[in-house]
Amino acid sequence: MTCEFSKPSEWMSPRGNSHLGQAHQMDFKGLRGFGSSVPGKIWFGRVGIVENRPLAEDTFLLVVNAPEVARRIIPGQFVMLRLPETFDPLLGRAFALFDVRKDPSGQITELVIVYQVVGKMTVRLKNVDPGAQLELWGPLGNGFPVFNAQHLVLVAGGIGVTPFMALAKEVLGISRFGDPAREVPRIGKITLCYGVRSKSYLVAVDDFRSLGVDVRVATEDGSEGYRGLVTDLLLKVLEEKGLAGTRTPGDGVGTELSADPPPGEGGASPSTPLGIVACGPEGMLEATARICRDLGVPCWVALESPMACGIGICFSCAVRIRLEDGTWDFRRACVEGPVFPADCIAWEV
Ligand SMILES: Cc1cc2nc3c(=O)[nH]c(=O)nc-3n(C[C@H](O)[C@H](O)[C@H](O)COP(=O)(O)OP(=O)(O)OC[C@H]3O[C@@H](n4cnc5c(N)ncnc54)[C@H](O)[C@@H]3O)c2cc1C
Ligand code: FES
Repeated sequence: MTCEFSKPSEWMSPRGNSHLGQAHQMDFKGLRGFGSSVPGKIWFGRVGIVENRPLAEDTFLLVVNAPEVARRIIPGQFVMLRLPETFDPLLGRAFALFDVRKDPSGQITELVIVYQVVGKMTVRLKNVDPGAQLELWGPLGNGFPVFNAQHLVLVAGGIGVTPFMALAKEVLGISRFGDPAREVPRIGKITLCYGVRSKSYLVAVDDFRSLGVDVRVATEDGSEGYRGLVTDLLLKVLEEKGLAGTRTPGDGVGTELSADPPPGEGGASPSTPLGIVACGPEGMLEATARICRDLGVPCWVALESPMACGIGICFSCAVRIRLEDGTWDFRRACVEGPVFPADCIAWEV
């Protein structure tokens, strides 16, 4: 896997105005990141809350009626949400696509988000009743690339599990996302290594299992599954595959996970055996990236860097990316990401 980033950075701003409370679209053509940046329109407007209910400890499921976004968003992309009637917090917050829902006629109309209550906005959001409105803009970010793998291992830390529901449904051929719906090869096996503080924080484990996902849970307090870190679960999976523990790291036996460019950018890749995709706290992502690098297993990470605008203007989400010439530079997680090949992140800087 190569890091196809080079200097100079192509900083481009979306064109168009933003009028609070008025639905409109910004022209976002030309904003292309690594992997599967999806050119298109960003929708901005107010959306009605359909459902907002507890799902697990400090964790809520939010459903909003946002057909313009729900029918176009792909797994790994996100939306920004803002409480309209207050300036505290002033800025929106980023939330990954968890799933979409259809209306009785079969049209995709609703966006499902799962959020953890951690601070200013989410403390308020959990008390907002169905029928109320939120400001929303999206779809944002590049989304997951099209993976050509026989076995995909998803590594989730805490609320980092959210982007994996839509991804699992897509690669298992259960749901299609995007407009037009993107074509993805069917992946034979999905393993979810899912680490949380305690079992009360687990989200949608039964739903993943009913999709056919092999779910392995790690809790810090040992209340469910393996007591310890999610990266230990990953190592166990790699060991079962004959990789970890039995090979000399970096001996070249590792598999090559290919990720096709988005539709329209050409190039098909051969099917390959194993790929890892991780989402969660930065320390967990770095540890996962290190394990995969040492064993020669291709790995992608979905970052959750704090974001202010979500559309490439404010640079609050800048991440350090390794360049082809051996140096590093910043890229915006909201536009060039949030999904990056793990080897392309300059973890050490
Ligand atoms: C692309 C993307 C997708 C995301 N998807 C989800 C999701 O599906 N569900 C979900 O619950 N959260 C998600 N997040 C994180 C979410 O945006 C933050 O948790 C949210 O901004 C918290 O808002 P708040 O006002 O409640 O907390 P704040 O008052 O803003 O912050 C509370 C505490 O959390 C810290 N914090 C805030 N944002 C982050 C962050 N992104 N990473 C690490 N620490 C942070 C702050 O430093 C502070 O200590 C995502 C973030 C990104 C960038
Ligand atoms: S959040 Fe503003 S540039 Fe990324």
